[in-house]
Amino acid sequence: MGIRMLLASLLLIIQISLISGSCYANRGEIEIDAGAMRMVCEYRGVRMLAGSTWNTTDCEECTCDRFGLSCCKFGEDAGVRIDLEPNNECVRIRVFCNSYLVKASDHTLDCFSGRPIYL
Ligand SMILES: *[C@@H]1O[C@H](CO)[C@@H](O)[C@H](O)[C@H]1NC(C)=O
Repeated sequence: MGIRMLLASLLLIIQISLISGSCYANRGEIEIDAGAMRMVCEYRGVRMLAGSTWNTTDCEECTCDRFGLSCCKFGEDAGVRIDLEPNNECVRIRVFCNSYLVKASDHTLDCFSGRPIYL
């Protein structure tokens, strides 16, 4: 294998691990309660029922379904970034999991459209 091929496959591996790095998953368990079976996922010591979806304050969106638990980062922490730098007229503010470019003179107005931002 040539050095180019090696580098290309190395890059691919890095990219794949970055993508899966923002998500994790684990298998759920079947629990029997009063003779009825139900699927549950363990999340930080809490047992969640299959069919649940929740968002955490550290910007993770989790779901529990019959395949188990799956959690992914959302917002800026998922790696989605706006590649615009603040200038004299605009500044970046961070609200929960996302950041917004807003007018420096009024942080409730979108930098480009001048319309109010809805959080
Ligand atoms: C969690 O956050 C995502 C992304 O912001 C949103 O689409 C989804 O509706 C939220 N889910 C819940 C249960 O709040």
